[in-house]
Amino acid sequence: MGSANQQDSEEAQGADSAYLEKQKVIQRMEAGAECKGVRIAGLSKVYSQYPFGIKGKKDVHAVRGVFLEVEEGELLGLLGHNGAGKTTLIGMLTGILKPSGGQANLGGKDLENEIDEVRQIIGVCPQFDILWKELTAGEHLYLFARIRNIPKHRIEDLIREKLAEVNLSDVRASQVLTFSGGMKRRLSMAICTIGDPKIIFLDEPTTGMDPKSRREVWDLIEVIFSQLRSTVVKTNIFKKETED
Ligand SMILES: Nc1ncnc2c1ncn2[C@@H]1O[C@H](COP(=O)(O)OP(=O)(O)OP(=O)(O)O)[C@@H](O)[C@H]1O
Ligand SMILES: [Mg+2]
Repeated sequence: MGSANQQDSEEAQGADSAYLEKQKVIQRMEAGAECKGVRIAGLSKVYSQYPFGIKGKKDVHAVRGVFLEVEEGELLGLLGHNGAGKTTLIGMLTGILKPSGGQANLGGKDLENEIDEVRQIIGVCPQFDILWKELTAGEHLYLFARIRNIPKHRIEDLIREKLAEVNLSDVRASQVLTFSGGMKRRLSMAICTIGDPKIIFLDEPTTGMDPKSRREVWDLIEVIFSQLRSTVVKTNIFKKETED
């Protein structure tokens, strides 16, 4: 923890850089500049207490007008404390949550009007693993390969490749219910890279992990970043880790 003064100056710097980023995004949009990575322009989300836009005292302003541009092939670490709105922002960018305002572009596709195209080019590793405990690692990869429309004759090679990448080849036939937290996370990471998505979102990929698993996931992120050349947006609650 830094001193109060240090924290104040860090916050001021944060506010400044947010302002500068906003100006940059607006200028680039006005100039008609293309963004092949992720462009977020004023995205906001209010979880409303009441329907039909009726305001309530318990409305939660989870995301307030975020402006951000992530260039193609860039890895961005998004830092925020618990409840800062990280998952909400990723939810909007992946078409799970409807924004209350603003717009975004992913790989040059408009989030609102081209959501089907957006879904084709993104991969998501959610904060909490969405896996079926009765299915094996191999079955998960098969299922998601089919969902991703990978040609059937390519799937077996792909499964082997992915399992090797995340060091799960030996447990291909084991049900997920026998997996540790780190193993489940690695499987989720493998799943989100199926189909070589241009843009990958990783929501707190290492939170709650022991140092060894954390190191393994960092190494995986490095692989995704350098080999797939995807644009990667990852969130984290720890400042130290995000900077690493
Ligand atoms: N479905 C919902 N309905 C109402 N409020 C919600 C809902 N989902 C999230 N919130 C609130 O919105 C705010 C942002 O939540 P969000 O989960 O996006 O934050 P986060 O940065 O991902 O937090 P964490 O680090 O705990 O995962 C919080 O105040 C949360 O309580
Ligand atoms: Mg979250």
